[in-house]
Amino acid sequence: MAESCSKAVGNISSMNPPAAEVRNLYKSFGDLSVLKDVSFSLREGEVVSVIGPSGSGKSTLARCICRLEEINSGEIYLYGDRIDNGRHSNRDIAHLVGMIFQQFNLFPHLSVLENLVLSPIRILGLSRKDAEEKGVALLRRVGLEEKRNSRPRELSGGQCQRVAIARALSMNPKIMLFDEPTSALDPELVGEVLDVIADLADSGMTMMIITHEMMFAKEVSNRVLFMDEGKIVEEGTPVEIFSCPRLPRTQLFLQRMLVHFGRELTEADGKEGCDRVP
Ligand SMILES: Nc1ncnc2c1ncn2[C@@H]1O[C@H](COP(=O)(O)OP(=O)(O)OP(=O)(O)O)[C@@H](O)[C@H]1O
Ligand SMILES: [Mg+2]
Repeated sequence: MAESCSKAVGNISSMNPPAAEVRNLYKSFGDLSVLKDVSFSLREGEVVSVIGPSGSGKSTLARCICRLEEINSGEIYLYGDRIDNGRHSNRDIAHLVGMIFQQFNLFPHLSVLENLVLSPIRILGLSRKDAEEKGVALLRRVGLEEKRNSRPRELSGGQCQRVAIARALSMNPKIMLFDEPTSALDPELVGEVLDVIADLADSGMTMMIITHEMMFAKEVSNRVLFMDEGKIVEEGTPVEIFSCPRLPRTQLFLQRMLVHFGRELTEADGKEGCDRVP
């Protein structure tokens, strides 16, 4: 996995068009100011990981991009189209972005394949035959073709999350947003889900991944954003962020992460230099 993923790093040209662009985003819940002047862009084919302490606003940022939350001010563009002004239907957004949540949100009363064909038939207008063919192909892609007739309760958490990823892909989104896709899983099931996400990264899918899996973020990302208290306080390549973080806040966060991930997390792999002075 690490070998194939590392190919992606550094290959994304700044000339690639922005797939998602967030400008000066503010979001509050009542008196609680959660996102404070957040700006960034995600280029086509880029894999951006978002890391940061609990409550820093990572999920809220992803939910605003999917338009699951109304924003207070700022601008959000998907492929150049401004989507925060209410002119786009949920259907329009579903064509552009697929979101994967910590909890898989599969329909429990439907079979795995039914979970996959529902939206393509209703929203994309596919025939049942085409939707099923596509659903089976996607299940094959995530290694679960033989589970097509199972109910979600008959699957492990890792298998459920792989079905959820296949379901999101069934809408042909241009961008995939992952919000801690492995944090509800038993440790031994994390790898199988990360492998599927790494394969997607390898295939050129544009992705934003919110994760506490630091080693994964380091391996799979082109760029890493560190969020704290509602702001993107530092961003850079994985080597820059993990091996030469500039800000004391980032350094402290990573120090805490070392307890879980060991020194490997902050050591550069030697293939890519870091010009920064930490
Ligand atoms: N619907 C909501 N109503 C009120 N407050 C909310 C709502 N959603 C999030 N918040 C608050 O916004 C802040 C940021 O939450 P968010 O879920 O974006 O953080 P996070 O960085 O994703 O954290 P974690 O790593 O724990 O998932 C938190 O203080 C949270 O309690
Ligand atoms: Mg969150």
